[in-house]
Amino acid sequence: MWGTATSAYQIEGAVAEDGRSPSIWDTFSHTPGAIAGGDHGDVACDHYHRWREDIGLMRRLGTNAYRLSLAWPRVVPGGDGPVNAEGLAFYDRLVDGLLEAGITPSVTLYHWDLPQTLQDRGGWPERDTAEHFAAYASVVAERLGDRVSHWATLNEPLCSAWIGHLEGTMAPGWTDLTAAVRASYHLLLGHGLAARALRAAAPGAQVGIVNNLSTIHAASDRPEDRAAAVRMDGHTNRWWLDPVHGRGFPEDMREVYGVELPEKPGDLETIAAPLDWLGLNYYFPQVVADDPDGPAPRAAFVRRGGVPRTGMDWEIDAGGIETLLLRLTNEYGARRLYVTENGSAFPDVVRPDGTIDDPERQDYLTRHLAACASAARKGAPLAGYFAWSLLDNFEWAYGYDKRFGLVHVDYATQVRTIKGSGHRYADIIRGHAERS
Ligand code: NOJ
Repeated sequence: MWGTATSAYQIEGAVAEDGRSPSIWDTFSHTPGAIAGGDHGDVACDHYHRWREDIGLMRRLGTNAYRLSLAWPRVVPGGDGPVNAEGLAFYDRLVDGLLEAGITPSVTLYHWDLPQTLQDRGGWPERDTAEHFAAYASVVAERLGDRVSHWATLNEPLCSAWIGHLEGTMAPGWTDLTAAVRASYHLLLGHGLAARALRAAAPGAQVGIVNNLSTIHAASDRPEDRAAAVRMDGHTNRWWLDPVHGRGFPEDMREVYGVELPEKPGDLETIAAPLDWLGLNYYFPQVVADDPDGPAPRAAFVRRGGVPRTGMDWEIDAGGIETLLLRLTNEYGARRLYVTENGSAFPDVVRPDGTIDDPERQDYLTRHLAACASAARKGAPLAGYFAWSLLDNFEWAYGYDKRFGLVHVDYATQVRTIKGSGHRYADIIRGHAERS
């Protein structure tokens, strides 16, 4: 699969149309001070109305797959209970449009937009949310499962749990370790329950989970920094990978958090539902030092000097994607892998003739694809790559200022323009097809 990726809240807009209810991101983005520039997703890329044009862009890029997410509050506005026919009909049209264009949809059920009604009842720290998530999974699989076979349950649960409930810079904006650990547990339980629900409603469903993983480097050889790197690896990588592979939650991290897990008999088996594939979102490596008085996992990020960085100030290290693909292969026995996101933000300049040349993004894309190819040559069962992102879009707490698109969006006019990196991606895809 050669694809691009987006997510519902970041591109759709139309937040109050056709029966959609607010999600935690509507609430959070309208909280004064939460988002750079006071931005929000009310209109975003207006994809809800422009999806036909956006499918046309996917075709022009030469992609044959597209990773999208469904907005739970469009489909089940109350979080549980009645289904919203109009919300479901939107995704039905979109899936048909993709298939007509020869583009395989890869559908993610949860890309952070929890219905606010469920947040009001406690959100992910509560077990019920996992149960409601599985019910929503059944609804969409029953409706789309005849045409969609590629499903992801969660996108980057690390962000939902740790950034949303511990660091507080993403919705719902909490800073509470107990809530964060409970959220992490119920997200993974929700994953397992949803995987079961997808397969029951759509036999043949290919089910995976999408994690954002990082390579972790100790800032120095000091034993304290090395130990911090092990903790950060637990926090970022192992906490999310071990349970879904039947290894339970890492003991060392249970101690680091010191929070009792809301375990019930049978949960670990549910969480370890067999997976058809694993998704890797990779952006940057992490360098950490011991931070004895800091919040869990008591490891502070260190900014290395003299290394190339993106417009997010994220370090660029293409080798990391290869390392992680091989780790998933060798340590976790992955049978099928996808890079479900990889990309870079840079301050793009629209030239007087309207074109956008983005040599740094082109370079990032080319290098990371080469590293993916290298991993595949070394045995990683890599079956696809999805560039983040098809379009510039709402970059969460950073608002619209950070542009990740292969396609530029002029937010005032909603005019889309393929950037140099989009043309580069099309060339790479074409070249690959010719060689294989
Ligand atoms: C990962 C997230 O899944 C996506 O929503 C976000 O825009 C990109 N990273 C870039 O930060």
